[in-house]
Amino acid sequence: MSDIIYMDNHATTPIAPEVLEAMIPYFTTHFGNSSSTHPFGVKAADAVEKARYQVAELLGCSAEDIVFTSGATESDNLAIRGIAYACQEQGNHIITSTAEHHAILDTCHALAADGFETTYLPVDQYGRVSPDDVEAAITPKTLLMSFMYANNEVGTINPLTDIAAVAAKHGVLFHSDAVQGIGQLPSDMEELGLDLASLTAHKIYGPKGIGALYVRRNTPQPHSLFYGGGQETGIRPGTLNVAGIVGLGAACELSKKYMAIGKNSVATLRDTLHQKLKANLDDIHLNGHPEHRLPGNLNLCFAGVQSHAHLAGLKRVAVSTGSACDSESVKASHVLVAMGVPNELALTAVRFGLGRYNTAEEVDIVADEVIKVVNRLRALAPEW
Ligand SMILES: Cc1ncc(COP(=O)(O)O)c(C=O)c1O
Repeated sequence: MSDIIYMDNHATTPIAPEVLEAMIPYFTTHFGNSSSTHPFGVKAADAVEKARYQVAELLGCSAEDIVFTSGATESDNLAIRGIAYACQEQGNHIITSTAEHHAILDTCHALAADGFETTYLPVDQYGRVSPDDVEAAITPKTLLMSFMYANNEVGTINPLTDIAAVAAKHGVLFHSDAVQGIGQLPSDMEELGLDLASLTAHKIYGPKGIGALYVRRNTPQPHSLFYGGGQETGIRPGTLNVAGIVGLGAACELSKKYMAIGKNSVATLRDTLHQKLKANLDDIHLNGHPEHRLPGNLNLCFAGVQSHAHLAGLKRVAVSTGSACDSESVKASHVLVAMGVPNELALTAVRFGLGRYNTAEEVDIVADEVIKVVNRLRALAPEW
């Protein structure tokens, strides 16, 4: 794998060496169950509380606001299902958007099957939700709205603080699937105006299978999805994944340090890649907002070149067609369709996800290889 360049950091990120180092003792010497009262348990419990504090530091919140989960899919389910069932006396209506991750969309579909009302707001050509549309969709029965911080396919950043103002004005709870934004964009929950937010370690150079749900003080406690022991104040029972939690905490601390420098250098590399491709290839189209976009995101349609053929042709570059969860599908991305990208063009999309460890040399190699593959495939296409 060492000669393949990894540019799929929205799917997952490599674990940072500092994070791995912090985790290893919790697989070996400090293997205790954090609920045990003997010294092995106390050592594990101390590490969990340190990690809770590290996550809270990144989110600008109190450690008590953090519930550890197995990742963002669980956090999204816990937020939406958990609040829907905890607050069903107050209302039964949930608002989200058509461009959300399936962890949100499918949870809402399941709630609709259980009798809840759901509204899926459209997004604009860049994938952004309009705060005016949000306000217009609120009814006396609305209890929760959920809009992602930044889109995992096209990188577009939603106007969360404007939406939060609408939510607060109408007394509606506001959750965000903030997986792609936390650790890369301003991450202070209070400033963003969020009541609940989902995050996951593997998008911020931490391990897979561990995440958290932020639940702001005075927010109703979500109903648990599981039955079991009373861990995480009963919201998320089950023996804690101590090593994973340590990794999440370390990843949050490291992200905080990297945020200032990382953002600009990753965006510069991303822009260089875009410029090189634009200068050498006709008919390529940027998906997502030109400015309000994740620093490492470059999602492009290459007219006339099917994305699956494109990816198969790239021998030294690991990128994807869109969401990693949808990578088996040859359907156009639901996000691009929601943005109004014509189906035929949407089937040519490739997502480059640059990250912390990419270099200028790698950008040159990736640009050269993409230009070669696109020219070759276009030469073979009769309609081109
Ligand atoms: C926006 C978004 N939400 C949710 C998820 C799911 O996260 P996890 O893999 O931690 O379950 C992902 C990851 O693919 C994502 O990008």
